[in-house]
Amino acid sequence: MKNHLISGGCGFVGKNMVRKLYNSTSDRIVFIDNLSVGTAPETWLEHPLNREIKGLKIYGEDERLVYIESDFIDIIRHLIKDPEWFNTEFGLDIVEFADVFHFAAIVGGRAMIDGDPMKVALDLSIDAEFFYWCTRAKPKRILYPSSSAAYPISKQTEAGAIQLRETDINFANMGQPDMTYGWTKLTGEFLAKIAAENYGLHIACIRPFSGYGEDQNYTYPIPAIAKRAVFKENPFEVWGTGYQGRDFVHIDDVIDCTLVALDKINDGTAINIGMGVLTNFRQVIEIFTGFAGYSPEIKCLLDKPVGVHSRYCNMDYVEERLGWKPKISIEEGLRRVYDAVAKKEGQHV
Ligand SMILES: NC(=O)c1ccc[n+]([C@@H]2O[C@H](COP(=O)([O-])OP(=O)(O)OC[C@H]3O[C@@H](n4cnc5c(N)ncnc54)[C@H](O)[C@@H]3O)[C@@H](O)[C@H]2O)c1
Repeated sequence: MKNHLISGGCGFVGKNMVRKLYNSTSDRIVFIDNLSVGTAPETWLEHPLNREIKGLKIYGEDERLVYIESDFIDIIRHLIKDPEWFNTEFGLDIVEFADVFHFAAIVGGRAMIDGDPMKVALDLSIDAEFFYWCTRAKPKRILYPSSSAAYPISKQTEAGAIQLRETDINFANMGQPDMTYGWTKLTGEFLAKIAAENYGLHIACIRPFSGYGEDQNYTYPIPAIAKRAVFKENPFEVWGTGYQGRDFVHIDDVIDCTLVALDKINDGTAINIGMGVLTNFRQVIEIFTGFAGYSPEIKCLLDKPVGVHSRYCNMDYVEERLGWKPKISIEEGLRRVYDAVAKKEGQHV
C-alpha cells in the first residue's frame, strides 16, 4: 500500500485533500496537524476512530486514515533522526512516502498578515526543515503550496493592476512580495527549485489565489460575508471601500488543479490557481445579499487592513501546459457557501 503524507491536514485545504485522496485512491493517508487553526478529525471526517497507538489515531475500518496531533516540525525531526520512526514508534509499516502535501503553515488572513508578520515568518522555519527532510527522505512527489502573495505588490495597485502571470515572478529580477507571508512563500518556491534541480526531487508548486469553500472558517471573508447576509445585516459592513478585489476560486477547483499539477510538473515550477477574474468585495456582498433577497446600504470600515487593491491571475499558462480550467463559477461557488452557512446557522434558505 502506498503512503501519502499531508501536513496541516486538518486545515481548510488539508482536510479537503485528505478526503479527496481517501475517496479517490486505495492508499493510506497520514496527516499531521497541531490544531492551532484546524479542527480535530472527529469534527469533519466521516469515518469513526478505529484504534489509537500512543496518541496516533487510526480512522476507518480499512485503517487508511492515520492522524497525529503534533507540531509538524517535531514529526520531521523524528523522521530525520529515524527514517523508520512510524515503524519503531507505532509498529506501522510506513517506511517511505509517495506523495507529500505540505499544507502546514501560519496563514491567518489579512488581519494576521499585517497584524503579526513575525508570527507568519515562522513559516520560514517550518518550510526550511520540511525541504531539508525531503532531500533526505526523498518522497516520490512533493507538493508545495506557495501563494498569490508571492507576486510583486507593485503590480496589484488600483491604477496598475494586471492579470498576474507566472512569469511576473522571476528570481533574477523581482519586485517585493506581500509582507512576511509573501516572502516566505517566495522563499519556499526557491527552496523547491533547489530541491528539484540540486537533489533531483519531483516537486510542483501552486499559487492559489483566494480559495474559498463551504467548510472554511469565519475568519475568512467569503464565509463571514455569507453569514452576515444570511442574517440580513443592514447597513452591511465592508473592510476599506469594498472596491478592492481578489480572484476567488472554489476549493474543489483548487484540489483538482493541485493534483493535475503534481502529475504534470516535476521541476519545482509554480502555477497559478484562480479563475482569472477580479471580483471586488462589493460584488461579493451584492451576490450574497441577492441570495438573501435584500439590498443593504454599504458601510465602509476604512480603518481595517485591506492589503493590495487588486489581485487576480492569468490562467493561460495553466490552460496551455496542464490543459486545466476551473469548473465552478463564482455564482455557483458562492451559492454553495451561502446554502452551507444558512444550514449551519439553522436558517431557512
Ligand atoms: N486557502 C487558500 O486559498 C490558499 C491560498 C494560497 C495559499 N494557500 C496555502 O495553502 C496552505 C494551506 O492553507 P489553508 O487555507 O488550508 O490554511 P489553514 O490555516 O486552514 O490550514 C493550515 C493548517 O496547518 C496547521 N498548522 C499550522 N502550523 C502547524 C505546525 N507547525 N504543525 C502542524 N500543523 C500546523 C493549522 O492548524 C491548520 O490546520 C498554506 O500553506 C497556505 O499558505 C492557501
